[in-house]
This record gives sequence, structure tokens and C-alpha cells, in this order.
Amino acid sequence: MTFAVERVRADFPVLTREINGQPLAYLDSAASAQKPNQVIDAEAAFYRHGYAAVHRGIHTLSAEATTRMENVRQQTANFLNARSAEELVFVRGTTEGINLVANSWGNSNVQAGDNIIISQMEHHANIVPWQMLCARAGAELRVIPMNVDGTLQLEAMPGLFDARTRLLAITQVSNVLGTENPVKAMAALAHQHGAKVLVDGAQAVMHAAVDVQDLDCDFYVFSGHKLYGPTGIGILYVKEALLQAMPPWEGGGSMIATVSLTEGTTWAKAPWRFEAGTPNTGGIIALGAALEYVSALGLEHIADYEQTLMHYALTELMTVPDITLYGPQARVGVVAFNLGKHHAFDVGSFLDNYGVAVRTGHHCAMPLMAFYQVPAMCRASLAMYNTHEEVDRLVTGLKRIHRLLG
Ligand SMILES: Cc1ncc(COP(=O)(O)O)c(C=O)c1O
Repeated sequence: MTFAVERVRADFPVLTREINGQPLAYLDSAASAQKPNQVIDAEAAFYRHGYAAVHRGIHTLSAEATTRMENVRQQTANFLNARSAEELVFVRGTTEGINLVANSWGNSNVQAGDNIIISQMEHHANIVPWQMLCARAGAELRVIPMNVDGTLQLEAMPGLFDARTRLLAITQVSNVLGTENPVKAMAALAHQHGAKVLVDGAQAVMHAAVDVQDLDCDFYVFSGHKLYGPTGIGILYVKEALLQAMPPWEGGGSMIATVSLTEGTTWAKAPWRFEAGTPNTGGIIALGAALEYVSALGLEHIADYEQTLMHYALTELMTVPDITLYGPQARVGVVAFNLGKHHAFDVGSFLDNYGVAVRTGHHCAMPLMAFYQVPAMCRASLAMYNTHEEVDRLVTGLKRIHRLLG
């Protein structure tokens, strides 16, 4: 079946914009994806016609909003093939989800002398919370090294585990290299050593269907805004028994069963125990619209289309003189590069003049930049609404910059 990319594009109003007199070629969806009308309209309609605080009121609007929010929890469970909606916590995004795990599960399960394993290609969101936890607990952070081709040295993994390994925290897809890590096999190895497994799915969920039961991970996290949903909403999945055993990390309204100034406080059951305060209900409802949107298109069709486009992009980019591409040939979603000795900021600014939006900088992955011994890279991301013509404009732009700057 051919993927009707022009029909998809028609749902995204921003894609009709001109930037610097040129049609926008938005190649920065890995940072944050654009939103279809269906998502924008769902959030606006909630504020226009259905808005109320959830969980607090007996009145109709509040009850309706609560039902809609809980329906999205169930929808997300279906999306990830979780066993139960009660395994899903609404968080602000991947960063908050990982910090929740580090503070709640981490503080009560990681002790002096324990260790946590991450990889060299992690986003700062999957490094810094573990560094902070290790500093608090007196634990050690161990790192799976990389190969120059942008894959992990998987053969080094068994040597990193021991009886004191508590957690493997690993990205499913690298936000810089597009490398897809074999997280299912990595999780099986971690479990053999009695360690828990957290998968950072921020760069994975929009490119292929995810089945948390099949991966058998203990924690899975993603952000709504990279999945064509709004900012400020994300999902943390935790296996049910583990989640029910975790202590709260933020206190306040909605996460309690009873509060007494003399007897102390008792907690609500999970997942609500982890959702202190008034939630981002508009964002949750719009996330539901985003899940519905990608599910209707079919993640398998999205994946097929994006793979074809990626293959084309890699082939065409290799025709640009003096380009260095980072990452493996088989990859998902992103392609990072540098042009000669030019700083990524300069290349990115020139591309912006041509209406082509790419990301430049360290991509919140400074250890990865250190591995490649560069301060920065340019990164083009390919989403389901990008076209072969936009790839051509990227490549033509880079060739023009090379002619101008040498
Ligand atoms: C792999 C990866 N992990 C975590 C994050 C952090 O996501 P957020 O900023 O939405 O919390 C990102 C965002 O760029 C990412 O690409």
C-alpha cells in the first residue's frame, strides 16, 4: 500500500508556512514533531466545551473530564500493549518519567556499592538522573561502550553486570545516530543478572509499534510531543507489581488516600499515587488524539514509508562533498552529519536561509559528541510527513553551502 503523504501533510497546518521566502522543509521532528489538526482541535475543544478539573468534583464537567483522562490511560495501555491501564503514569515527558523512577524506585532500591548500567549514546535525560542517584546512594555508573559505526559494543555487556547491578537504563533508538538497540535481548541479559530494565522510548514510539510485554522491560518512557502530541505530557509505564511497591516522589493533592495532621498521610494506589496536583488534562486528551491519529495511519505503514525515505536520504547525502555521516546504515528517524570543518551552527543557519529546518548542537548527548571528538553535529530527522523533495532540498542546500564556504 502506498503511503498517502500528501494527505498526511494536509493535516499539519504549519507545513504550509514559508520560511525566508522558501517553503518550510521541517526536518527537526526528533526534537519536537509538528501537530495535526486532530490534536490541535482536540485540545482546543476541551478548553472550549469540556474544561474542568479532574478527580475533584461531582459535577458533570468534572466527571466527564475524569472519564476522558482515564480513557486515554486505557488507550495508551492498548498502544503499548501493557497488561493494564494501571501500569501507566501521566508525566510531563521522558525527562520527568526517568526522574520519577530514579527518585522513587531508585532511592529505595539502589544502595552504596550497587551499580547502574547505561550506554555511551544516551540522551542527558537518561544519564544525569542516574548520576544524581549514584551520587546520593554511593553507587557506581557503568557505561556500555560504542563502536565507531554508531552501534553499541554488545559483547562488552556481560562483563559490566555483576550481583550488585540494579538497573540497565538504555535508549531504544539513539536521538543522534538513529541506532536501534536490541533492547529485548539486552533486557533478557539484565534480568538474568537480577537487574531491572528501563527503556527510553522517546525516539522509538513514533517510528514503529512498541509492545512492552514482548520487550519485557520493567519501565518504558516516552514524550507526547515527539509523537505528534502536545508538549508537557508523557507516559511512564511500569510493570504493575513494581509500580504498586514504589513509594511516591512528589506529595500533594490527588496522590493521597487520607491526610491527618496527627496521624500522618496514607497514599492513593498507583498510578494515581504518582500524579500529585492538577494534571495536564488538556494535554492528556490531545495525546489521546495523537495516539488515535498514528494508530489510524498504522505504525507499520508509517515505518515502511519512513524507511524508504531514510534509505533515499542516506544515498543522496553521500553525494555531498566533504560530508561526514554519523551512525549505522540501518537506522531509524535521524541522520546526523558535519560538513567539512564547518561548525554545525553555520551549516544549520545557511540551511535555515533555504527554508530547511535541522537541529544543530550537542543534541543533549555530550558524551556521544566526546566519543566522535566533535563539539556539535547537524541532524536531519525524517518524520511521516516528510517527502523525497524535502530531502532533495536538504542535499541541494548542503551542496550549495559547500560551494560557497569550500
Ligand atoms: C532519546 C531521548 N531521551 C529523552 C529525551 C527527553 O525528552 P523530553 O525533553 O521530552 O523530556 C529526548 C528528547 O530529545 C530524547 O531524544
